[in-house]
Amino acid sequence: MKKTYYITTPIYYPSAKLHIGNAYTTVAADAMARYKKLRGYDVKFLTGTDEHGQKIERVAKEAGLAPKVYLDDICDWIKNLWKVLDIDYDIFIRTTDDYHERAVQEIFKRLYDQGDIYKGEYDGLYCTPCETFFSERDVENGCCPDCGRPVEATKEESYFFRLSKYQDRLIEYIESHPEFIQPVSRKNEMINNFLKPGLEDLCVSRTSFKWGIPVTFDPDHVVYVWVDALSNYITALGYGSEDTSDYERYWPADVHLVGKDILRFHTIIWPAMLMALGEPLPKQIFGHGWLMFGDDKMSKSKGNVVDPLMLEERYGVDAIRYFLLREMQFGQDGSFTNSALIQRINSDLANDYGNLVSRTVGMIEKYFDGTLPEEIGTAAHDDEIEGMAIATVASVEQHMDEMRMTAALKDIWTFIRRLNKYIDENEPWILAKDASARDTLAAVMYHLAEGIRYVTVMISPVMTTVLPKVREQLPASDDLWTWESLANWGGLPARVSVTKGAALFPRLDMEKELDELNEIFEQQKAAAAEEQYPAVEARPAIDIDTFFQSQIQVGEVLACEKVKKSKKLLVSKVRVGEDVRQIVSGIAAYYTPEEMVGKRVLVVTNLKPVKLCGELSEGMILAASDDNGNLVLATTDKAIISGSEVS
Ligand code: MSP
Repeated sequence: MKKTYYITTPIYYPSAKLHIGNAYTTVAADAMARYKKLRGYDVKFLTGTDEHGQKIERVAKEAGLAPKVYLDDICDWIKNLWKVLDIDYDIFIRTTDDYHERAVQEIFKRLYDQGDIYKGEYDGLYCTPCETFFSERDVENGCCPDCGRPVEATKEESYFFRLSKYQDRLIEYIESHPEFIQPVSRKNEMINNFLKPGLEDLCVSRTSFKWGIPVTFDPDHVVYVWVDALSNYITALGYGSEDTSDYERYWPADVHLVGKDILRFHTIIWPAMLMALGEPLPKQIFGHGWLMFGDDKMSKSKGNVVDPLMLEERYGVDAIRYFLLREMQFGQDGSFTNSALIQRINSDLANDYGNLVSRTVGMIEKYFDGTLPEEIGTAAHDDEIEGMAIATVASVEQHMDEMRMTAALKDIWTFIRRLNKYIDENEPWILAKDASARDTLAAVMYHLAEGIRYVTVMISPVMTTVLPKVREQLPASDDLWTWESLANWGGLPARVSVTKGAALFPRLDMEKELDELNEIFEQQKAAAAEEQYPAVEARPAIDIDTFFQSQIQVGEVLACEKVKKSKKLLVSKVRVGEDVRQIVSGIAAYYTPEEMVGKRVLVVTNLKPVKLCGELSEGMILAASDDNGNLVLATTDKAIISGSEVS
């Protein structure tokens, strides 16, 4: 029986379109799944969508759609994205699928019946966009430690999972299974930052929204997102259904591939749930790094989100898949920049690999009438090239088996560069002029063609479209494009006709591409800036009397100048009724003193006077500001006499 390999990506929130950072996880998982298939494993590759929760309920409502209708549309969009990126998943789970919902209900009920879930009252802080509860200790200045937005105080009846009960077993398990959390640095982070300080029981149900899986024995409650989402890894295999054959065959998973932001949920909550269910734990959780845009986090509101569909349209799927896995050290953070992308395409793909193929096939056409010659005689056989091919296969296998995809690609490219150098060293154009060097020339051509076969098979899990294209140029039967066939050098049959095809990766005009890409991102940023509402922290409600404790009056700016010791401040003389007051404001970046004079502004007049940069300020001029650093003065709609009260 074949060995199994079960790999999963996280299930994605379909609340927004996915970007290249999300695609990174899926491309990596797909490359691993394809590699294992090539190595003869019976592979299951799972991905899907995480469709419940308050955020989806809200976004669908804003779009004026029933949640399921809204979700169907986005799911189609996501499936199309995976198709475009050649993601060859075996199962696509949606947490709104009936079989998943039923299994989650059963899991919840079982945990309740055995006392691992109990009813209590939740009193804490909740971040709606992240759908996560936080304890006081996690929250930073009233804001979510993950997304930085304000958290809300929440109190409601909830069910809790006895996470605390599993703390010692988890620590023990993680310590005694060094391969469980990868990379290793992340293991220490989980133990020291989360497990050792102590685990609190976990709130696993909500009553404040409806878009979730109902708790069968208490239908006011819906299952709170992580218990629903994490269970997908086993329900997708039929756990909790009538047919559990896939579960028995593929579980425990070989690896859950996740971004580092959700590693905590996968290495603490998920194993604790499985321990409670008495099921084996996944063999490994791999937390990969974060893909940044330059030095910035990708974010829709900043307009720096990289659209994978746009990139695919411009550069093709292989360029993107290669770039993602090669540019960033798998496991660590990395950054996407337009120039790094074009550079990789031009140097690694066009120059190194593409050129190797077109030069080789071109020379066979030219020097041997398009028929691949046999490697004649042993004198011209190059042990070093053969040895390097075999050694590269061995090191690539080792790297891939330990999820070091970047290192695997690096080694393949070292071999590609060696083959290009081999051309330069042997100077086939000179050998071609010497009738007595036919055997040597034939051997050189054969080594190159055979080397290309090795390289092409090895990169095929990452780059999915090159193998068929190269095969058209260098014909050989199916069994010569398998991983197994790389065990023996010399498989490529001689005396077959080669045909030069179009360049695999045409060279790009760096300057032109950068201009065009920059233009696309500038437009995106401008559109995002227009769309973006400022993130304003809500203040506690006040009654009207409290509001009227502030006195706001219309003022007229009579004179204005810069405050000497400050770049930010202007000092104005403002007439408020009969009074003339001096007021300092932080608006020098937005208004010149000349612009200020004559303006009718709104002034808070009962603030206690203060000194700012040595200048007395007797009030405050009101202005509105957004998140993009724009600031405008608040004025009155029509002219009204200075001193009038605003209420
Ligand atoms: N729904 C949860 C996962 C539940 S799994 C039981 C979720 N979804 S997500 O859509 O927000 O994120 C999916 C994956 O994309 C996560 O692994 C996350 O780390 C990854 N990424 C999101 N932005 C990313 C980058 N900029 N770079 C790399 N990965 C990124 O979390």
